[in-house]
Amino acid sequence: MCGIVGAVAQRNITPVLLEGLKRLEYRGYDSCGVALHVDGHLQRSRSTSRVADLQAQIDQSGLAGFTGIAHTRWATHGAPSSSNAHPHFSRDRIALVHNGIIENHEELRAELTQAGYVFESQTDTEVIAHLIDHLYSGDLFDTVQIAIKRLTGAFAIAVFCRDEPHRVVGARQGSPLIVGVGQGENFLASDAMALAGTTDQIIYLEEGDVVDLQLQKVWIVDSEGKSVQREVKTVHAHSGAAELGPYRHYMQKEIFEQPRAIADTLEGVISIMPELFGDGAYKVFKQIDSVLILACGTSYYAGLTAKYWIEAIAKIPVNVEIASEYRYRESVPNPNSLVVTISQSGETADTLAALKHARSLGMLHTLTVCNVATSAMVRECALSYITHAGVEVGVASTKAFTTQLAALFLLALSLAQSKGRLSETDEAEHIRALRHLPVAISAVLALEPQIISWAEEFARKENALFLGRGLHYPIALEGALKLKEISYIHAEAYPAGELKHGPLALVTKEMPVVTVAPNDTLIEKLKSNMQEVRARGGELYVFADADSRITSSEGVHVIRLPEHYGQLSPILHVVPLQLLAYHTALARGTDVDKPRNLAKSVTVE
Ligand code: F6R
Repeated sequence: MCGIVGAVAQRNITPVLLEGLKRLEYRGYDSCGVALHVDGHLQRSRSTSRVADLQAQIDQSGLAGFTGIAHTRWATHGAPSSSNAHPHFSRDRIALVHNGIIENHEELRAELTQAGYVFESQTDTEVIAHLIDHLYSGDLFDTVQIAIKRLTGAFAIAVFCRDEPHRVVGARQGSPLIVGVGQGENFLASDAMALAGTTDQIIYLEEGDVVDLQLQKVWIVDSEGKSVQREVKTVHAHSGAAELGPYRHYMQKEIFEQPRAIADTLEGVISIMPELFGDGAYKVFKQIDSVLILACGTSYYAGLTAKYWIEAIAKIPVNVEIASEYRYRESVPNPNSLVVTISQSGETADTLAALKHARSLGMLHTLTVCNVATSAMVRECALSYITHAGVEVGVASTKAFTTQLAALFLLALSLAQSKGRLSETDEAEHIRALRHLPVAISAVLALEPQIISWAEEFARKENALFLGRGLHYPIALEGALKLKEISYIHAEAYPAGELKHGPLALVTKEMPVVTVAPNDTLIEKLKSNMQEVRARGGELYVFADADSRITSSEGVHVIRLPEHYGQLSPILHVVPLQLLAYHTALARGTDVDKPRNLAKSVTVE
């Protein structure tokens, strides 16, 4: 999703801006651009192609300057085109980049058009540039503080002015923005990773902050205009452009990194302790009487799996809500509920807003399972568990999901223990199973060659059904999501028992039906559901546990996983579904790591 980089320095800053954009590429974008202050003028270069092409364009034109801003855009208002790409200019005096959405842009556009401004793009961003120009008083910092009071919506901006050559002003409201503190030079970015290799001295701006960035000065005011000091943290952000090694894509690399990612996530866990989730967790866990999980996409499916675990193991009722729905619906708040957000990035706008909404309803016990320790989500929640998946570059989440599951299983155990519902024998057994997970996943990864042979057939299909039951229904949902997002094959998942209530009508011999078939208490029921599919000519592709005694026959293809892995089985069963999606996408020739229309970090609602 959109990314911002900005800088004031005494050297040509173009390489830093371009490097920052490259580091933000993994988030997904469809155009990019750079604007610089050059000899008393604003100059820019924009592209609807990759950052590498923008760089080639800049190398050719020789664009260079000491002060500048840059952006990767993921289109919301207006198609991906050169004129909609950021930075936007106003009267060749103001240059601006923006992440987020301005909700009152139409009203402002009408007002500014009336005032004589001519719009060159369809974006909501250009409105902010013209508004700042319209209100410009000779002091950009003051003007931005006044201008943003006119904006509704979520945004982070970086702006500079032709008449103030050594100054960049930033503001955040609902979208992340950080300051990188250098020596005699300072930077702005939407994410610390953009500045990796440039500075590790990072200030996380808070909601409503406006920052004045000059060569020797970083001046911050809060939403009331009061000058504030924000802590400078040393952040070792890793580059998104980690080496691919022997892999063809980041997604494949990340699938194969799962044994390591789970081991890192569970490192140091030798017994179950609520304090794994932070100081004071025991007191909170003892007190709460229900759990509310808020998340989006794949993280939501992790939440659905956690519901099964928490209810079965800790006997605490759980509600799982899609964050974008929860934030706007009238719900019945329970102040004794533990609010759990799940997020790989920790910056997902809907999940952050849902968390704030829950808090505004008086639900103050908050916990997040998150992969980015420095993210807004971790800062906003009282308790946290950091998954150590490492940077996930592929847009389709894989290792982040399985590490979330490992952390959520620990949460179920910790809640159970706080309520006196976990015996020492069970605890020891669960810890043993958790610690063995990396080895068990490695055995599943060894199935790749068999999955590749299925993928060739899937690549020719346009639809697929995924079935699962109980704890594995969310895994079927995740498998369908993976397949649709990277191979563009339409895929739907159903709890297998629901088939005969409607979706069975879709089953023909053209319809592949992927079945997640662990050898659990529901296996006989699932076998009956599989019969229902076969009787209608549907072709079954079954991921069965070795001990399930499901065998291949006409129209029934079986890949065997190792023996059933008990309650942690979903963590194993999702892996072949990730591989199936990956190899199907590969066979169809799609852009696996950057699927069309999608972004890695969804910072707009
Ligand atoms: C799908 C995927 C998305 C994310 C969703 C939430 O493969 O990655 O569905 O899970 O956008 O993102 P986070 O977890 O960063 O809040």
